[in-house]
Amino acid sequence: MKVVLIGFMGSGKSSVGKLLAQKTKLKFIETDEIILKETGFDDMAKLFATRGEVGLREAEIQLAKRLFTLNDVVIATGGGMVLNKINLDYLRKNGGLVIFLKTQFSEIVKRLKTDPTPRPLFAKLAAARAIFTFRKALYTQYADLIINTDNKNQLQIVSEIYEHLRHH
Ligand code: S3P
Repeated sequence: MKVVLIGFMGSGKSSVGKLLAQKTKLKFIETDEIILKETGFDDMAKLFATRGEVGLREAEIQLAKRLFTLNDVVIATGGGMVLNKINLDYLRKNGGLVIFLKTQFSEIVKRLKTDPTPRPLFAKLAAARAIFTFRKALYTQYADLIINTDNKNQLQIVSEIYEHLRHH
């Protein structure tokens, strides 16, 4: 089984992904973490400052290409993976099930206030909201399954996904 989590920054892809991997006994991987390790940057702010957003997008395409052979894995993707359709084409290969963690913008703002991870594309609220609005259709379009995360805790979200996987 291969589960691919997509969604906006702060939608819970990493935290939910880790818990889901534990529950399903699948391996957990995070595309941002792999990209930072391989490029040698401490965080996304530093990567953006040196290579720009295009540096991240190119790294994402290269990584998505390599990941498609993996199996028995939960993959938490960076929020911008949907910007290049080729990424989703690769991630979906070999039975990848794409799950969109859908979260309201107001909820995301709340969550990211206390999250220390540097997110250059969330530095300005108005710009972040515009990105959110633009991306919404992309996440929806690529999803095999949409899970609404508003007003749910992580364990509830994991259980909901788990039930879907059992019947998949
Ligand atoms: C981005 C999301 C981030 C990270 C980078 C850009 C985006 O990942 O890849 O800061 O374009 O939405 P998370 O979705 O894990 O925050």
